[in-house]
Amino acid sequence: MDKLVIQGGVPLNGEISVSGAKNAALPILCASLLTAEPLTLGNVPQLHDIATMRKLLVHMGVKIEQLDNNQISLDASDIHTCEAPYDMVKTMRASILVLGPLLARFGHVRVSLPGGCAIGSRPVDLHIKGLQAMGADIRIEHGYIEAKADRLKGARIFMDIVTVTGTENLMMAAALAEGTTVLENAAKEPEVVDLAECLVKMGAKIEGVGTDVITVTGVANLHTASHDVVCDRIEAGTYMVAAAMTGGEVKLKRARADLLDAVIDKLRESGAVVEHDSDSITVRSEGVLQRQGALRSVSVRTAPHPAFPTDMQAQFMALNTVADAVATVTETIFENRFMHVQEMQRLGASIEVEGNTAIIRGREFLEGATVMATDLRASASLVLAALVARGETVIERIYHLDRGYERLEEKLSQLGARIQRIK
Ligand code: EPZ
Repeated sequence: MDKLVIQGGVPLNGEISVSGAKNAALPILCASLLTAEPLTLGNVPQLHDIATMRKLLVHMGVKIEQLDNNQISLDASDIHTCEAPYDMVKTMRASILVLGPLLARFGHVRVSLPGGCAIGSRPVDLHIKGLQAMGADIRIEHGYIEAKADRLKGARIFMDIVTVTGTENLMMAAALAEGTTVLENAAKEPEVVDLAECLVKMGAKIEGVGTDVITVTGVANLHTASHDVVCDRIEAGTYMVAAAMTGGEVKLKRARADLLDAVIDKLRESGAVVEHDSDSITVRSEGVLQRQGALRSVSVRTAPHPAFPTDMQAQFMALNTVADAVATVTETIFENRFMHVQEMQRLGASIEVEGNTAIIRGREFLEGATVMATDLRASASLVLAALVARGETVIERIYHLDRGYERLEEKLSQLGARIQRIK
């Protein structure tokens, strides 16, 4: 198992480019299943989760060609199985995103129920309920979802919890359904918007994306298209917090500030300077390495977009561990997304957890130690803490990081960090 060795104490300075968004690329890869014509994608990040999804699609018969480092073309003209086996689904929950497209185009699909994961049980009941509303006959047997439908019919579907992949699955299914589908209480995340933009280029008729109510008018077929995946706002946000904590000046190219309002607000509240133009964001900060108390403690509460994103919760917990006072971090989306707390305590952080709220008392400094990554964003928060900790920190099980951060140690080294991957 690889690990990262980080010597803390170095302010970050320089420029890096943000990669394409993992959580947009994953559903958009599955959208290729909706048509027999080729789909060409640009700005696709080279990540473990993307490789996993590609393997699943190839297993089904999709032909994938790597055109250049971040550009691929997918051809789903010859699908020979509509089954997503357990050993492929168990490692990545997003595999559930093949359910809607396969059912809509082929009328039958067998997908293993995704296991729970480190951050919570994460059921898919809303995905299933929505497809049933569209006329699908769905059974759950032996840990698999077996779905059948001659042709899905448009329906009015209310999702009582905002679900990102639930909205994505149902939007893709509705694109080929007969008639009109209305998704109420739909997710508004930028990755849902990006998927919709790709589907529209493929000939889908979608209105209202980015709002609570998405209306999809089904068409008989979708066709070939080209689409560049939107930039990864969570990767960008992670590096922005790193710069705020260590101090220095970091420019993120190919980043969009309009996707990060809540995060930028909170960073400014904590004392960092954040400036941007249409495709880059610059963060400048004195940082805690220069002056203890340079960052003000800032409380956050996660909620669906455009509110503060749950995928940035762990990163702001790291910031608060070395800020000037006390802050709370409240997680309202997942029931167990505080796995990073114990690991940060090993670095000397003062954090107490009460239910879904963590209370963080800023400390003058953290001490390097050996810690363990538990899930994707928790791992990122340990890297941030290590960048300001005194001495050396070793982060184990960093395959979690490789799922969602392209060339992390390379990008941080480019900014001056002393970070090394040990095979
Ligand atoms: C997506 O997960 C993201 N993953 C997650 O990013 C992100 O944290 C999450 O949305 C919230 O923004 C991808 O897009 C691949 P949900 P998703 O369905 O769709 C409950 C990362 O770090 N729920 O929006 O799986 C669920 O249990 C990952 O990149 C139901 O109860 O999340 C959760 O509590 C982590 N029934 C809440 O809704 C359902 O049918 C939100 O889940 C579906 C969801």
